[in-house]
Amino acid sequence: MKTQVAIVGGGPAGLLLSQLLDLSGIDSIVIERRSRDYVLGRIRAGVLEAGTVGLLREAGVSDRMDRDGQTHDGFEISWHDERLRIDLAGMTGKPVTVYGQTEVTRDLYTARDERGGEIIHEAEVVRIESTESDRPIVVFEKNGEEHRIEARFIAGCDGFHGPCRRAIPEGVRREFVREYPFGWLGLLSRSKPANSELIYAAHERGFGLCSMRSDAVSRYYVQVPLTEKLEDWPADRFWDELKRRIPVDVASQLQSDGEVLEMSVAPLRSFVSEPLRHGSLFLAGDSGHIVPPTGAKGLNLAASDIFYLHRALDAFFNSASNEGIVNYSAKALSRVWKSERFSWWMTSILHDFPEMNAFEKRMQKAEFDYLAQSEAAQRSLAENYVGLPY
Ligand code: APR
Ligand code: PHB
Repeated sequence: MKTQVAIVGGGPAGLLLSQLLDLSGIDSIVIERRSRDYVLGRIRAGVLEAGTVGLLREAGVSDRMDRDGQTHDGFEISWHDERLRIDLAGMTGKPVTVYGQTEVTRDLYTARDERGGEIIHEAEVVRIESTESDRPIVVFEKNGEEHRIEARFIAGCDGFHGPCRRAIPEGVRREFVREYPFGWLGLLSRSKPANSELIYAAHERGFGLCSMRSDAVSRYYVQVPLTEKLEDWPADRFWDELKRRIPVDVASQLQSDGEVLEMSVAPLRSFVSEPLRHGSLFLAGDSGHIVPPTGAKGLNLAASDIFYLHRALDAFFNSASNEGIVNYSAKALSRVWKSERFSWWMTSILHDFPEMNAFEKRMQKAEFDYLAQSEAAQRSLAENYVGLPY
């Protein structure tokens, strides 16, 4: 098989890239290890920056998002019963859009089908060869047989556990990691959201988050120790714990009798791999970096990587310019590191860290009080939350 860009991974990053390339007249093949149903069964965050929304519109996949997505002009942070609203629209002129990542992925699949895009499912990439040449090769296994795709470029959109990052030689690659000593236990429920806007709740018992997917589907999280097992958390225990961490008047609005659609535990991690290009291989999305979910930046960062990568490949194939290719890693990383900083900071101020001493706990409370009293601090938070410019 031959193509211009071989895309490893059919998550949101890989699908968005294949769609944008197609609109620019560039061929690609997406190779995805899982089935489509499996990919669409993964529940992930649901807050889109204005930049992501713009890129999805450019990609022609925005009909459902524009119809069903919720425009949020602000969100709240609470500390026990004290509440603070961050006026995103008032401070930045931009809202965020609440629309599930699973739905974004579904819309991308629909669009690829409509344009006859080639996506090979249940095909596991096992090797990447010749990345330092201009004929790199992706080797994948499907139904027990090995296949090869020769491309001009390879886009590694294969998530944190995929093989592409490891195809960059160890002497060239540098990895930066921060692990957090807790995870988020999430519950998706068929119920009216407890509050019309998101609430990030800091509490001595640990962090809690009230989010939503629509007027009829809510998404909640509680911080848990990494040792916690899902089977120890029947829904009743989850609701009790969440109610203790969020302001009382919000807790009184919580509908805990709706059908539980999904529960899962996710660890929190900050991670960056440098560089994001080696020869003809690019990394984009979770394959190159991970953020803790506290700032809802995961998908949004994947989108900005894809923006830079699409522009670079378009200029290469359609205008014979190498510049975007050469600058991709530095450009993408500059934005990645700022989102890493923001996600790390949000995580640090809102969670209960087991190792924190009394002084550090006061520092967290002082962060909240400062934020509550300083318009400058709120503006900085808002600027990052709606998304820094590309
Ligand atoms: N061969 C083929 N596909 C692979 C392989 C492999 N060896 N390894 C991983 N994949 C696929 C995974 O099955 C997955 O569908 O790559 C895809 C990567 O998708 P995501 O993990 O969703 O990563 P990405 O597209 O970068 O999305 C970034 O979405 O996944 C969330 O938390 C993530 O919010 C972030 C954003
Ligand atoms: C979610 O709705 O799943 C969600 C929202 C905001 C976050 C993280 C997750 O910061």
